[in-house]
Amino acid sequence: MIEIENLTKKYKNLTALDNISLTIKSGELFAYLGPNGAGKTTTIRILTGLTKLTSGCARLNGFDIVHDELSAKRQYGLVPQSINLDRELSVYENLYIHGRLYHMSTKPLKKKIQELLNYVELSERRNTLVKKLSGGMKRRVMIACALVHSPVILFLDEPTVGLDPGMRRKVWALIKNIQQAGALIFLTTHYIEEAEFLAQRVAFIDEGKIVTVDTPENLIKQQGEWAIDRIVDGMMETVYFDSREDADNYNSCMDERFTFRKVNLEDSFLALTGKKVK
Ligand SMILES: Nc1ncnc2c1ncn2[C@@H]1O[C@H](COP(=O)(O)OP(=O)(O)O)[C@@H](O)[C@H]1O
Ligand SMILES: [Mg+2]
Repeated sequence: MIEIENLTKKYKNLTALDNISLTIKSGELFAYLGPNGAGKTTTIRILTGLTKLTSGCARLNGFDIVHDELSAKRQYGLVPQSINLDRELSVYENLYIHGRLYHMSTKPLKKKIQELLNYVELSERRNTLVKKLSGGMKRRVMIACALVHSPVILFLDEPTVGLDPGMRRKVWALIKNIQQAGALIFLTTHYIEEAEFLAQRVAFIDEGKIVTVDTPENLIKQQGEWAIDRIVDGMMETVYFDSREDADNYNSCMDERFTFRKVNLEDSFLALTGKKVK
């Protein structure tokens, strides 16, 4: 469980996080969706003890991140936004070092590494140097590293940035599997489809503030079900409809080019913040 109460982070004149409160249940897959600079990484860095908070508090499974720092740190695994692997070492060596950092003894650690390599489908690459791996493989090694000590909370900061669509889906499947094995997953993303596809609940974050928190279904429903995009006087205009019939009626009196599509989380983000996620 993650409990965040009135969390604020200031960097000189900039308020990177502004009075954030959130509760995320054990086993939940929670997405934090917002544009670049919204405060997503700052939130993760504070919860994982890498950055100091300015005010407020947070607990991981009941352990205060400031007052019970060591216990709080044992609760989570972290997959940061940038690659944190040792490029000159093999996949296996990276995982081994990670386990040793958590004081795991050799036998259970070796067993766990074998299990995780199978899990992320990299058993055949165990002796490959990290610098020889593709971006998607590196991402999967990072996820395996974060899981070595069997944490119950997994933080994933933009886990699919830079991956091609096929690899992105593979990582999505892996994330779902990890959740189904019982972990709470806190995921940040600026990809609409990622939040929509994976998350049970989504928080929209913009300029350090949480705009809303709800299930993707409810957030989308607020806008309608169908959308028509068209260009009017050089500007993109989107019209929303509750039923396909209404949309079809509207459509029949238009002769210019248009796109007919289902409403998505981008529409709801736009409605609430006045801007697009990316
Ligand atoms: N170490 C820092 N010093 C000053 N400003 C920072 C620092 N880290 C982040 N920021 C600022 O805080 C805001 C939120 O950043 P970040 O949490 O990285 O956003 P996101 O991960 O959503 O893209 C941005 O305006 C960023 O420039
Ligand atoms: Mg970030």
